Amino acid sequence: MNELFCKAIISIWHHICKKSSFFILTLTARLTVSPSRSQFFKGDFVSLSCEEDDSSAGWTLRRNTSKQQRTQCGDGWGTSVNSSCDISYIVERDSGVYWCESREGPISNMVNLTVTGGSVILQSPVLPVMEGDDVTLLCKTKTTPSNLPAAFYKDGSLIRKQPTGHMTIQHVSRSDEGLYKCDISGHGESPSSWITVTGDTLTCLCFCRFQHSQCDDNLMTVFALF
Ligand SMILES: *[C@@H]1O[C@H](CO)[C@@H](O)[C@H](O)[C@H]1NC(C)=O
Ligand SMILES: *[C@@H]1O[C@H](CO)[C@@H](O)[C@H](O)[C@H]1NC(C)=O
Ligand SMILES: *[C@@H]1O[C@H](CO)[C@@H](O)[C@H](O)[C@H]1NC(C)=O
Repeated sequence: MNELFCKAIISIWHHICKKSSFFILTLTARLTVSPSRSQFFKGDFVSLSCEEDDSSAGWTLRRNTSKQQRTQCGDGWGTSVNSSCDISYIVERDSGVYWCESREGPISNMVNLTVTGGSVILQSPVLPVMEGDDVTLLCKTKTTPSNLPAAFYKDGSLIRKQPTGHMTIQHVSRSDEGLYKCDISGHGESPSSWITVTGDTLTCLCFCRFQHSQCDDNLMTVFALF
Protein backbone atom coordinates (compact mmCIF):
# COMPACT_ATOMS: atom_id res chain seq x y z
CA MET A 1 0.00 0.00 0.00
CA ASN A 2 1.48 3.30 -0.97
CA GLU A 3 0.72 6.95 -1.39
CA LEU A 4 -0.45 6.49 -4.98
CA PHE A 5 -3.01 3.98 -3.84
CA CYS A 6 -4.14 6.37 -1.15
CA LYS A 7 -4.47 9.14 -3.73
CA ALA A 8 -6.56 6.85 -5.93
CA ILE A 9 -8.95 6.17 -3.06
CA ILE A 10 -9.20 9.86 -2.30
CA SER A 11 -9.98 10.64 -5.92
CA ILE A 12 -12.80 8.09 -5.89
CA TRP A 13 -14.22 9.82 -2.84
CA HIS A 14 -13.77 13.11 -4.61
CA HIS A 15 -15.86 11.78 -7.45
CA ILE A 16 -18.61 10.52 -5.15
CA CYS A 17 -18.69 13.78 -3.23
CA LYS A 18 -18.93 15.85 -6.41
CA LYS A 19 -21.54 13.66 -7.99
CA SER A 20 -23.83 13.59 -5.03
CA SER A 21 -23.68 17.39 -4.80
CA PHE A 22 -24.32 17.07 -1.10
CA PHE A 23 -20.72 17.10 -0.20
CA ILE A 24 -17.62 19.18 -0.53
CA LEU A 25 -14.43 17.28 -0.06
CA THR A 26 -11.63 18.68 2.02
CA LEU A 27 -8.38 16.82 2.14
CA THR A 28 -6.08 17.14 5.07
CA ALA A 29 -2.91 19.11 4.55
CA ARG A 30 0.59 17.89 5.11
CA LEU A 31 2.94 20.05 7.10
CA THR A 32 6.47 20.07 5.74
CA VAL A 33 9.56 21.71 7.16
CA SER A 34 12.48 23.09 5.18
CA PRO A 35 15.30 22.30 5.84
CA SER A 36 13.75 18.96 6.71
CA ARG A 37 14.93 18.27 10.25
CA SER A 38 13.69 18.67 13.77
CA GLN A 39 16.59 20.50 15.44
CA PHE A 40 17.94 23.95 14.63
CA PHE A 41 20.65 26.29 15.82
CA LYS A 42 19.56 29.64 17.12
CA GLY A 43 19.62 32.00 14.13
CA ASP A 44 18.73 29.41 11.47
CA PHE A 45 16.18 30.11 8.74
CA VAL A 46 13.19 27.74 8.73
CA SER A 47 10.26 27.59 6.35
CA LEU A 48 7.09 25.62 7.14
CA SER A 49 4.33 24.94 4.67
CA CYS A 50 0.90 23.41 4.61
CA GLU A 51 0.80 21.34 1.44
CA GLU A 52 -2.64 20.52 0.24
CA ASP A 53 -4.63 19.54 -2.79
CA ASP A 54 -7.44 21.95 -2.18
CA SER A 55 -6.00 25.44 -1.83
CA SER A 56 -9.40 26.98 -1.04
CA ALA A 57 -9.51 25.26 2.31
CA GLY A 58 -7.63 28.11 4.00
CA TRP A 59 -5.05 26.38 6.12
CA THR A 60 -3.54 28.14 9.09
CA LEU A 61 -0.25 27.19 10.64
CA ARG A 62 -0.39 27.09 14.41
CA ARG A 63 1.93 26.16 17.20
CA ASN A 64 2.13 25.44 20.92
CA THR A 65 5.25 26.49 22.75
CA SER A 66 5.99 26.39 26.45
CA LYS A 67 4.78 30.00 26.73
CA GLN A 68 1.84 30.27 24.33
CA GLN A 69 -0.79 27.96 22.91
CA ARG A 70 -2.45 27.86 19.50
CA THR A 71 -0.86 31.02 18.16
CA GLN A 72 -0.86 31.35 14.40
CA CYS A 73 1.87 32.32 11.96
CA GLY A 74 2.25 36.11 11.88
CA ASP A 75 0.86 36.47 15.40
CA GLY A 76 4.11 37.43 17.10
CA TRP A 77 6.18 34.89 15.20
CA GLY A 78 6.91 34.00 11.57
CA THR A 79 5.97 35.73 8.34
CA SER A 80 3.37 34.35 5.95
CA VAL A 81 4.82 34.15 2.47
CA ASN A 82 2.39 32.65 -0.02
CA SER A 83 1.39 29.35 1.53
CA SER A 84 4.52 29.12 3.67
CA CYS A 85 5.46 30.52 7.02
CA ASP A 86 9.04 31.68 7.28
CA ILE A 87 10.95 32.10 10.50
CA SER A 88 14.03 34.01 9.44
CA TYR A 89 15.88 33.91 12.77
CA ILE A 90 14.67 31.03 14.89
CA VAL A 91 15.30 31.20 18.64
CA GLU A 92 14.94 28.82 21.61
CA ARG A 93 11.44 30.02 22.46
CA ASP A 94 10.27 28.90 18.99
CA SER A 95 10.71 25.29 20.17
CA GLY A 96 7.36 23.54 20.20
CA VAL A 97 4.78 21.58 18.27
CA TYR A 98 3.52 22.92 14.92
CA TRP A 99 0.50 21.89 12.84
CA CYS A 100 -1.83 23.13 10.09
CA GLU A 101 -5.50 23.61 10.78
CA SER A 102 -8.41 24.48 8.50
CA ARG A 103 -11.63 26.31 9.31
CA GLU A 104 -13.52 23.08 8.75
CA GLY A 105 -11.67 21.35 11.52
CA PRO A 106 -9.26 18.88 10.00
CA ILE A 107 -5.70 19.16 11.13
CA SER A 108 -2.47 17.99 9.56
CA ASN A 109 0.36 15.94 10.95
CA MET A 110 2.26 17.62 13.78
CA VAL A 111 5.95 18.29 13.99
CA ASN A 112 8.17 19.04 16.95
CA LEU A 113 10.86 21.63 16.40
CA THR A 114 13.67 22.12 18.90
CA VAL A 115 15.99 25.11 18.82
CA THR A 116 19.24 25.16 20.74
CA GLY A 117 21.49 27.98 21.82
CA GLY A 118 24.21 25.34 22.15
CA SER A 119 26.65 24.25 19.49
CA VAL A 120 25.53 20.71 18.62
CA ILE A 121 22.38 19.43 16.89
CA LEU A 122 21.17 16.02 15.85
CA GLN A 123 19.84 16.02 12.30
CA SER A 124 17.02 13.52 12.44
CA PRO A 125 13.88 13.11 10.31
CA VAL A 126 11.16 15.55 11.27
CA LEU A 127 8.41 13.42 9.71
CA PRO A 128 7.63 9.83 10.69
CA VAL A 129 9.83 7.26 8.99
CA MET A 130 8.35 4.33 7.09
CA GLU A 131 9.06 0.90 8.50
CA GLY A 132 11.80 -0.76 6.43
CA ASP A 133 13.45 2.49 5.30
CA ASP A 134 17.03 3.42 6.12
CA VAL A 135 17.48 6.47 8.32
CA THR A 136 20.64 8.51 8.60
CA LEU A 137 21.31 10.61 11.65
CA LEU A 138 23.93 13.31 11.55
CA CYS A 139 25.54 14.96 14.54
CA LYS A 140 26.59 18.48 13.63
CA THR A 141 28.38 21.37 15.26
CA LYS A 142 27.58 24.98 14.54
CA THR A 143 31.15 26.04 13.95
CA THR A 144 33.03 23.10 12.42
CA PRO A 145 32.19 22.50 8.76
CA SER A 146 33.55 18.95 8.64
CA ASN A 147 31.98 16.04 10.49
CA LEU A 148 33.54 15.11 13.81
CA PRO A 149 33.40 11.80 15.70
CA ALA A 150 30.14 11.57 17.61
CA ALA A 151 28.36 9.34 20.10
CA PHE A 152 24.67 8.52 19.58
CA TYR A 153 22.18 7.78 22.34
CA LYS A 154 18.72 6.28 22.29
CA ASP A 155 16.45 6.65 25.33
CA GLY A 156 19.46 7.66 27.40
CA SER A 157 21.77 4.74 26.50
CA LEU A 158 24.80 4.90 24.27
CA ILE A 159 24.06 2.98 21.06
CA ARG A 160 26.99 3.80 18.77
CA LYS A 161 30.17 5.81 18.43
CA GLN A 162 30.82 6.89 14.88
CA PRO A 163 34.11 8.40 13.66
CA THR A 164 32.34 10.29 10.86
CA GLY A 165 29.55 11.82 12.92
CA HIS A 166 26.76 10.07 11.11
CA MET A 167 24.92 6.88 11.75
CA THR A 168 22.57 4.89 9.56
CA ILE A 169 19.84 2.70 10.96
CA GLN A 170 19.03 0.15 8.31
CA HIS A 171 15.51 -1.17 7.78
CA VAL A 172 13.97 0.69 10.69
CA SER A 173 11.33 -1.09 12.70
CA ARG A 174 9.02 -0.06 15.50
CA SER A 175 11.68 -0.99 18.02
CA ASP A 176 13.87 1.83 16.69
CA GLU A 177 11.32 4.38 17.82
CA GLY A 178 12.52 6.52 20.67
CA LEU A 179 14.23 9.64 21.92
CA TYR A 180 17.60 10.23 20.27
CA LYS A 181 20.47 12.59 20.98
CA CYS A 182 24.18 12.78 20.21
CA ASP A 183 27.31 14.35 21.57
CA ILE A 184 30.61 15.50 20.18
CA SER A 185 33.45 15.56 22.62
CA GLY A 186 34.71 19.07 23.27
CA HIS A 187 31.59 20.64 21.72
CA GLY A 188 28.70 19.33 23.76
CA GLU A 189 25.43 17.48 23.55
CA SER A 190 22.49 17.98 21.20
CA PRO A 191 18.88 18.29 22.38
CA SER A 192 16.78 15.12 22.20
CA SER A 193 14.29 14.40 19.43
CA TRP A 194 11.71 11.69 18.85
CA ILE A 195 12.01 9.43 15.89
CA THR A 196 8.63 8.01 14.99
CA VAL A 197 8.25 4.92 12.81
CA THR A 198 5.01 4.35 10.95
CA GLY A 199 3.98 0.94 9.74
CA ASP A 200 3.10 -0.17 6.28
CA THR A 201 -0.32 1.26 6.83
CA LEU A 202 -1.30 4.61 5.51
CA THR A 203 -4.25 6.65 6.59
CA CYS A 204 -6.14 8.49 3.90
CA LEU A 205 -8.13 11.11 5.64
CA CYS A 206 -10.75 13.23 3.98
CA PHE A 207 -13.75 15.18 5.05
CA CYS A 208 -17.06 15.32 3.24
CA ARG A 209 -18.97 18.34 4.42
CA PHE A 210 -22.69 18.70 3.75
CA GLN A 211 -22.87 21.47 1.21
CA HIS A 212 -26.31 22.76 2.02
CA SER A 213 -26.26 22.20 5.72
CA GLN A 214 -26.59 25.05 8.17
CA CYS A 215 -25.24 22.98 10.99
CA ASP A 216 -21.54 23.24 11.62
CA ASP A 217 -21.38 19.88 13.27
CA ASN A 218 -22.77 18.11 10.22
CA LEU A 219 -19.36 16.87 9.34
CA MET A 220 -18.87 13.47 7.90
CA THR A 221 -15.42 12.09 8.26
CA VAL A 222 -14.17 9.39 6.00
CA PHE A 223 -11.24 7.37 7.13
CA ALA A 224 -9.81 4.92 4.69
CA LEU A 225 -7.35 2.61 6.37
CA PHE A 226 -5.13 0.17 4.52
C1 LIG B 1 -1.99 23.04 22.18
O1 LIG B 1 -2.47 23.66 23.35
C2 LIG B 1 -3.88 23.55 23.50
C3 LIG B 1 -4.27 24.41 24.68
O2 LIG B 1 -3.48 24.11 25.81
C4 LIG B 1 -4.24 22.09 23.69
O3 LIG B 1 -5.63 21.95 23.83
C5 LIG B 1 -3.79 21.32 22.46
O4 LIG B 1 -4.03 19.94 22.62
C6 LIG B 1 -2.31 21.56 22.19
N1 LIG B 1 -1.99 20.96 20.92
C7 LIG B 1 -0.92 20.20 20.73
C8 LIG B 1 -0.73 19.69 19.37
O5 LIG B 1 -0.11 19.98 21.60
C1 LIG C 1 4.56 34.05 -4.11
O1 LIG C 1 3.84 33.51 -5.20
C2 LIG C 1 3.89 34.30 -6.38
C3 LIG C 1 2.98 33.69 -7.42
O2 LIG C 1 2.98 32.29 -7.36
C4 LIG C 1 5.35 34.37 -6.84
O3 LIG C 1 5.45 35.16 -8.00
C5 LIG C 1 6.20 34.98 -5.74
O4 LIG C 1 7.57 34.96 -6.12
C6 LIG C 1 6.03 34.20 -4.45
N1 LIG C 1 6.71 34.90 -3.40
C7 LIG C 1 7.65 34.36 -2.66
C8 LIG C 1 8.30 35.27 -1.68
O5 LIG C 1 7.97 33.18 -2.75
C1 LIG D 1 6.71 15.82 20.42
O1 LIG D 1 7.46 15.74 21.61
C2 LIG D 1 6.75 15.18 22.72
C3 LIG D 1 7.65 15.16 23.93
O2 LIG D 1 8.56 16.19 23.92
C4 LIG D 1 6.30 13.76 22.37
O3 LIG D 1 5.54 13.25 23.42
C5 LIG D 1 5.47 13.79 21.11
O4 LIG D 1 5.16 12.47 20.72
C6 LIG D 1 6.24 14.46 19.98
N1 LIG D 1 5.36 14.56 18.83
C7 LIG D 1 5.78 14.27 17.60
C8 LIG D 1 4.77 14.46 16.52
O5 LIG D 1 6.91 13.89 17.35
